[in-house]
Amino acid sequence: MFNQQIVAENFFLKDVNALRDSVKPYLTTEPPADPAPSIALLQTVLAAEIVCVLRYTMISVSQDGLQSAWIGTEFQEQANDERKHMAMAAARIQQLGGTPNFNPPGLASRAAGPGTYDGNFAKRVNENLEAEQSVIAHYRDLITYFAPRDAQTCAMLEDIIRDEEDHTSDMADLLGAYVS
Ligand SMILES: [Fe+2]
Ligand SMILES: [Fe+2]
Repeated sequence: MFNQQIVAENFFLKDVNALRDSVKPYLTTEPPADPAPSIALLQTVLAAEIVCVLRYTMISVSQDGLQSAWIGTEFQEQANDERKHMAMAAARIQQLGGTPNFNPPGLASRAAGPGTYDGNFAKRVNENLEAEQSVIAHYRDLITYFAPRDAQTCAMLEDIIRDEEDHTSDMADLLGAYVS
């Protein structure tokens, strides 16, 4: 059954913000000798990227995406970027000796579940814009952590941020074109 509460809140943003909150203890502690904190931080990147892949794919095949080539193509391209980010984060976790978690807690109730897309395109895009901005802020926090410790992870995050900044510009363009 359609649940108004699900679409009334920006669950996408809430989800990203919860990921950011979850790593704050790591960001304020000194680096331990083992890679576990780095792996835990990267699991939040993987979780955020998985949600983005699902959400943008969902929008690309929504009625709006199917009826407008611009919307469909744009969101498919963004989903492809997010899939690349997902793979980068997972590979880095593996390289550090961890196991990428492709089934992070809460995934089942997250951004691409039933009732998430109610046809209100402008609202969804605005949610995406807010969440992308939060993702960028989160990754910048992580760069602060990784900068003195792990140049390779830093470079990876900087690459990803460049794409996310493009995504925010694209979302703003879409909003400008469709919300007026
Ligand atoms: Fe991404
Ligand atoms: Fe993005």
